[in-house]
Amino acid sequence: MLPKSKDDFVGLTGVCHLATGGQPPLLKSHAKAYEQFSFDKTRGMAGYANHWAMGSVVKQQLASLTNLTAEDFALIGNASEGIARVVSSVDWRVGDNTVVADVDYASGRFSLARLASMGVENRVVSADDNFIKIEDLLAACDARTRLLYISHVNAHTGQRIDLKRLSESIDPNIVLLVDASHSLGVMPVDGNYCDFLVASTYKFLLGTHTGVLAWNQRRKKEFNPLSVGWHGGASGLAANDYNPVRGGQRAEIGNSNHLDVYMLRTSLDYLAAIPSDALESYVLDLAGKLRRGLQKLGLPLLTPESRNNRGPNVSFQHDNPATLVRRAAADKILLWGEAGRVRASVHVFVEEDDVDYFLDWMAKYL
Ligand SMILES: Cc1ncc(COP(=O)(O)O)c(C=O)c1O
Repeated sequence: MLPKSKDDFVGLTGVCHLATGGQPPLLKSHAKAYEQFSFDKTRGMAGYANHWAMGSVVKQQLASLTNLTAEDFALIGNASEGIARVVSSVDWRVGDNTVVADVDYASGRFSLARLASMGVENRVVSADDNFIKIEDLLAACDARTRLLYISHVNAHTGQRIDLKRLSESIDPNIVLLVDASHSLGVMPVDGNYCDFLVASTYKFLLGTHTGVLAWNQRRKKEFNPLSVGWHGGASGLAANDYNPVRGGQRAEIGNSNHLDVYMLRTSLDYLAAIPSDALESYVLDLAGKLRRGLQKLGLPLLTPESRNNRGPNVSFQHDNPATLVRRAAADKILLWGEAGRVRASVHVFVEEDDVDYFLDWMAKYL
């Protein structure tokens, strides 16, 4: 059953594609999603209603992936927009603070740093030799902490956070905002362990460039994003009235990116056909092999060894990632490299032979 055939994807034959942490390939079946969208697009009101119906299907698929409900979800422009929406929903007071790890993703760090002008302190927790310790995040929190942002799998290091442990230890008054951009699609992501979940859809979910946000309404009773619009609100009696609609939809300001939503449905159908346990084991096994091989070559690894602390990405530090990535691409190996590190990612189409080929190539490169 795994790996899946490279032939399911566009342009993947003969390519060692380890760049999903940046951009995975599209499925050949996405062409049909485009056809269906364009057919609906020309059908006036009935076709437009189909766009929203497709959104409902996708929300249901996302709910099954995350143990949340379809009503919790919003289909928005991108993951970063989701982070900004959640941050904007907090009623900030001078003297409040937020917590984030120094190695976490820029959109989270920037959104929280931006609050300085409102008198909110962003507490940046230093990772210990690139490893984020949950106890350090918790120690940075106090009675004035309002929000903590954390990536489930870190984009830079590949470390996977134990969300259960974090969510069970954090003060429930603190908004726990989890970014699952590097896990959703290949690893189990339990939405019960967060207040809000965001993910970009163009990475491990195998879709195009859009984003999802979920509001876990069982854990967090309030969500009032500052940016609102016709799709997330309902009128009252007066022209000046605004009433948020139920659930995550209140974060959908206007139209979703409907074409991307059709594409996402195809990706989620494809992933849903693979048993999630098998998918998780496959990815962790192969990423483990990749990590062991890179370690043998003496590379300065950023990704933890333990199976429980890593996901689909393996990263190592490198002085010149751009050259390494360019040379590898010339030999049909696709990697992702920037900010002093190179990242290799595993997805369903990556074969053991790809990992061997890459490791042999690396040995010669060094
Ligand atoms: C953890 C994380 N969150 C968000 C993003 C950006 O996604 P988007 O463009 O959908 O906001 C990235 C991109 O690399 C990421 O690594």
